[in-house]
Amino acid sequence: MSVPRQKYLSSVWRDGIFADKVLFCTGGAGTICSMQVRAFVALGGNACIIGRNVEKTEKGAEDIATVRSGSKVIGIGGVDVRDPKALQAAADRCAKELGGIDFAIAGAAGNFLAPMAQLSPNAFKTVMDIDALGSYNTTKAVLPYLVESAQKYKNIGSSQPTGTGGRMIFISATFHYKGQPLQAHVAAAKAAVDQISHSVAIEYGPYGVTSNIITPGPIANTEGVERLSKTDPKSMKASMKRIPLGRYGEVKEIADATVYLFSEAGSYVNGNTLVVDGGQWRTSGASESAAWQYPDFLLSGAAVEGVKSGRKSKL
Ligand code: COA
Repeated sequence: MSVPRQKYLSSVWRDGIFADKVLFCTGGAGTICSMQVRAFVALGGNACIIGRNVEKTEKGAEDIATVRSGSKVIGIGGVDVRDPKALQAAADRCAKELGGIDFAIAGAAGNFLAPMAQLSPNAFKTVMDIDALGSYNTTKAVLPYLVESAQKYKNIGSSQPTGTGGRMIFISATFHYKGQPLQAHVAAAKAAVDQISHSVAIEYGPYGVTSNIITPGPIANTEGVERLSKTDPKSMKASMKRIPLGRYGEVKEIADATVYLFSEAGSYVNGNTLVVDGGQWRTSGASESAAWQYPDFLLSGAAVEGVKSGRKSKL
C-alpha cells in the first residue's frame, strides 16, 4: 500500500535526520505505529517491527520499506509482548541484523469496551499483561541497546553531527486522567505504562536516555477508533463536538510528535507526556452536564442562569 508522504509526515522535517539509526517498535504493523515507523524510515532510519500476527507483521515491514529506497525494515511476527524471552530474542535479532537499537516505541496494546460488570478478572489481567507488563518487557529488552546508543550520540544540548539516539516512547491513553466508563482495565494499565516511562526517565536519564509518552486522542481511520467508538456519522459528530479542535486527529500528527521527541528538537524533553488529542481530555467532563451542552452553550453566548452563582443575564 503506497501512502503519500503528506499522509504520515509534515513537510517541516529534514530528510536524513535518522540516517543509520534503528527503531524497534512493538505493535509496529498497527494503524498508528506503522505510520510512526514509516515517518522514521522516510527520514533515513531503519526499523524492526514486532507483532503477534506473522503475516501482518512481515507484510507491514515490506510495505514500510518502500518509503525509501535502500531502507531496511524487518518484521518479526509471532512475538507476544507478554513473553519476555520472545521479546528479548527479537531485540537481539534487530540489533544483530541492523547494527543496534537507537530508538524504541512500546506501542503494542489491547483494548475493548466493557463495563466492570462484564469484565472478568482474566479480561482485566489480559489488558494489564499486554499494556503494562508488555511495555515493561519491551523496556527491559531494549534498554541496554538504548544506553549504548545514548553513549554514542551524546545529549549535551548542542547540535551533534551524528544526530540523536537512546530514546524511548510509550504509547498511552488519557482514560485515567479523569476516569472513563467501560475502560477500568485500560485506565489501570495505561496508568502503569505512564509510570514505567517516568521510571525509565528517572533511572536511565543519567545514562543519557530519554523516555516520554505520546497519548493519541481519537485518530481518524484507526483500529482504536473502530474499536472504541461508534463510527456512524451521528455518533462521530457528537464525539467531535467534545474535542476543542472539533475534529479527529490524523496519523500524521502522531508521527510528527514522534519525530519531534526523537529528533534534536526534543533533546531536553524527558519524563514527559505529549497528549496529541486536540484538547479532548480537558473537556472529557463537559458532557456530564445536560444543562450546558458542550460546546453549544459556549457558542450561544448565553448566560449561566437558574443557579445561585450564575449571572442574571449575559454581558
Ligand atoms: N468484553 C469483555 N471481555 C472480553 C472482551 C470484551 N469485548 N474481549 C475479550 N474479553 C475477555 C475474554 O472473555 C477473556 O476472559 P475470560 O477468560 O474470563 O473469558 C479475556 O478477555 C482474554 O481474552 P482472549 O481473547 O483470550 O485474549 P487475547 O490475548 O487473545 O486477546 C484482547 C487480547 C482481548 C485485548 C484482544 O482484543 C486483542 O487481541 N486485541 C489486540 C488489538 C487491540 O486491542 N488493539 C488496541 C487498539 S486501541
